[in-house]
Amino acid sequence: MPEEIIDLNSIVSGRQPINSSETPKEVTFDRVHSILYGNSSTKLIYDNAQKYFTKKFDQTYPHTSLQRDLFISIIQKVHPSLKVQFVVEIGSFTGNSASIMGKVLKESYPGSFLLCIDTWLGDLAMWINKAVWEHLSVSEDGRPTVYYQFLTNIIKQNLTTMVLPASMTSIIGARFLQTYRFYPQVIYLDSAHEQGETLIELSLYWNLLRPGGILFGDDWGWSSVRCDLKKFSYMKNLTIEQAGNTWILKKPVN
Ligand SMILES: C[S@@+](CC[C@H](N)C(=O)[O-])C[C@H]1O[C@@H](n2cnc3c(N)ncnc32)[C@H](O)[C@@H]1O
Repeated sequence: MPEEIIDLNSIVSGRQPINSSETPKEVTFDRVHSILYGNSSTKLIYDNAQKYFTKKFDQTYPHTSLQRDLFISIIQKVHPSLKVQFVVEIGSFTGNSASIMGKVLKESYPGSFLLCIDTWLGDLAMWINKAVWEHLSVSEDGRPTVYYQFLTNIIKQNLTTMVLPASMTSIIGARFLQTYRFYPQVIYLDSAHEQGETLIELSLYWNLLRPGGILFGDDWGWSSVRCDLKKFSYMKNLTIEQAGNTWILKKPVN
């Protein structure tokens, strides 16, 4: 595919990062919380989780593929020269996969944190399939309230100091990270899986990923995902690894 059909590099150019002259600082939960919501010691978002909608712990959403052992094996693929400290998930929904990753990070990677980028507005399947639609938990005035389910699930698992939600589209989330030069070592992509959008997500998040890091995602079984991944790997000369329904891309160190 000719590179000029979609210029992967132009997607993130044209906007000056903040403090671009400084060496990128370590990305911490408190730093990102402070930028997005204010000081976490006085205004922790989880403290207001039950203010508007009351949810009970619920992890019954059935389509979570990521399992603990799989995540552990993937994180071990990160190049040994990199310290795993900042992980990003795009598409968190009720927080099932975020909880799995958060627990592993909490146990084995002190000081690390997980940023969850999601609109919490669902994907197409959730709006047209009644069984999954239930999990969106749409209010009577027509808006999904699953974000509050995510907050409750994270609270109940004691992950509130290291899992942080950002209610953004995947594209805005990537631009946010680029603006602050927040570069993750591991990225998990599990958003809407729409063809074309997936290619843009792959491009944006690949550019953000630290050399030696891992970009992986769900639903290799979807033809839209396979199609965009194959285009992307062809353009970048990468090899796609697979583990069941999970696909994995390793970013070369140099
Ligand atoms: C399949 S669910 C994620 C499931 C979760 N990773 C798990 O394993 O339990 C997909 C999520 O992607 C989110 N999403 C869809 N399109 C998005 C976009 N363009 N930007 C950000 N989030 C998006 C939806 O709101 C939904 O929460």
